[in-house]
Amino acid sequence: MTLRLGDTAPDFQAETTSGPIGFHDWLGDGWGVLFSHPRDFTPVCTTELGYVARLEPEFEQRGVKAIGLSIDPVTSHQGWLADIKETQGHAVNFPIIADPDRKVADLYGMIHPAHDEVYTVRTVFVIDPRKKIRLFITYPQTTGRNFDEILRVIDSLQLTDGHRVATPVVPAVTDEEARAKFPRGWRALKPYLRLTPQPGRPEPEEARAATR
Ligand code: BEZ
Repeated sequence: MTLRLGDTAPDFQAETTSGPIGFHDWLGDGWGVLFSHPRDFTPVCTTELGYVARLEPEFEQRGVKAIGLSIDPVTSHQGWLADIKETQGHAVNFPIIADPDRKVADLYGMIHPAHDEVYTVRTVFVIDPRKKIRLFITYPQTTGRNFDEILRVIDSLQLTDGHRVATPVVPAVTDEEARAKFPRGWRALKPYLRLTPQPGRPEPEEARAATR
């Protein structure tokens, strides 16, 4: 199955390092980030997982649950997580899916046979509270992902959903609507290019000169 943006993230049951889960139930009504690792006890995967563990407070702040996947079994994951804590200085406190029969990997198109017939590539799926896929990125096995970029995308998605801005203001919002939505005003560089201070953030110097 080919997944596309806006599709419902497929549900599944799986064993994880935190016990068995039903994916949709586990997600609840928040955001989720599902990402695959080719295999346990490999260098790029180890440093990546350590970095995501370090970023956990950032995910939590945004109401996002992280969940990893590798096709190795739970017993292997447990030993690997101990190594990650020891070598990366951060304990992984989110679940890692064990997918030895590649059920989830196949469901999400994480195996790219021309690249590797057995192990997953590195995928990242951002899933919103309606269980819709809002972003996916696929990396080769030998290249680590930039999870700061994933956080930036989540910030952008959450801002856009909450305030109808696509940083800047989306063109479909009329000036009249914008006056109600953005009481701090905006600066129009072009009729379609209106800049407004980010809702919920302190007003930067530049935007104080905004026209109302
Ligand atoms: C790694 O995590 O370092 C890795 C995993 C699979 C293939 C190549 C590198």
